[in-house]
Amino acid sequence: MQYRRLGRSGLQVSALSLGSWVTFKNQLDVRAAGELLRQAFDAGVNFFDNAEQYAGGESERIMGEALAQLGLSRDSYTVSSKVFWGGKLPTQRGLSRKHIRDAADAALRRLRVDYLDLFFCHRPDLDTPIEETVRAMGDLVRQGKVLYWGTSEWDADQIAEAAGVARALGVDPPTMEQPQYNLFVRHKVEREYLRLYDSLGLGTTVWSPLASGILSGKYAGGIPAGSRMTLPDFQWLRERLESAEGRDRVQKSEQIAALARDMGVSASHLAIAWCLRNPHVSTVILGASSPSQLTENLAALDALPKLTPEVLSAIEAVVANRPPDPERF
Ligand SMILES: NC(=O)c1ccc[n+]([C@@H]2O[C@H](COP(=O)([O-])OP(=O)(O)OC[C@H]3O[C@@H](n4cnc5c(N)ncnc54)[C@H](OP(=O)(O)O)[C@@H]3O)[C@@H](O)[C@H]2O)c1
Repeated sequence: MQYRRLGRSGLQVSALSLGSWVTFKNQLDVRAAGELLRQAFDAGVNFFDNAEQYAGGESERIMGEALAQLGLSRDSYTVSSKVFWGGKLPTQRGLSRKHIRDAADAALRRLRVDYLDLFFCHRPDLDTPIEETVRAMGDLVRQGKVLYWGTSEWDADQIAEAAGVARALGVDPPTMEQPQYNLFVRHKVEREYLRLYDSLGLGTTVWSPLASGILSGKYAGGIPAGSRMTLPDFQWLRERLESAEGRDRVQKSEQIAALARDMGVSASHLAIAWCLRNPHVSTVILGASSPSQLTENLAALDALPKLTPEVLSAIEAVVANRPPDPERF
């Protein structure tokens, strides 16, 4: 495993981490989730990602029970939660001081930990004053309930504003952002946040490296039984897959898979290694619904040296979505 600083912070996170969205509860029970966590931990993974929203809190409950059964020492791993979608009532959602406090306490209970290593504002809340949200996050840090707070899918301007407000209030600024990043979605990580990496020392914990599995190439022959696109609660993902954009992605994934074959690696290896090659990525959050998927994805680090300039050019020719004025790395 490789370890990277979470932005300018002192925390070293594994370059590959494991998330529980979709999988925990919908596809994996406590026993199966525990096997995946153990497998990841044994491979050097030290960050497990979660959110109050995942399976309505059940994902955190399963992770908490599995971690307790595994008996991992609390100083050997990091765990996250995210606040925004906690329930249907007005007090159960958004980034008000009240919901932030309630969400953090509920996550601590479900995950069975004394503190959250990372705590994200899952989306921006345009109806709550940014001062209120920043101060509430700062309070959690001061109380020792949260070590590092951050954002997910915020604009660069919103993150910069939050950091300025934090400075003015004398509280910790956001340490990290959690954006989507994969061969199809690049703009925020490669272009929009560029000014924040240096000025704020922003770290990134990027999500959906396989674009929900599409970049593994498995959808080339239709929708496989048991895949997330067949789950009742994820019909919206299936509709996206069957849209014109989704069909285009499947077709490009076949071309990416052909490039990977030429390199002697799997399509998943190539897609995950491509995310890792960006030095602004602190950790790539993997998703896996079986031990064999996790085994394959954890081996992606080995494909990193194979991403030569020629291979990267061939990939660019397929995806054709390089953001304007990309930083060279
Ligand atoms: N902050 C946010 O807004 C946000 C949003 C989304 C995700 N996330 C985080 O990012 C994590 C990862 O996202 P993701 O699950 O969408 O990641 P992903 O890597 O894009 O998709 C993972 C899914 O792809 C399939 N898969 C994985 N490896 C495979 C392989 N080697 N061969 C074939 N299929 C494979 C599996 O689904 P099947 O069961 O279909 O096989 C697996 O669950 C989440 O768990 C969550 O922690 C955050």
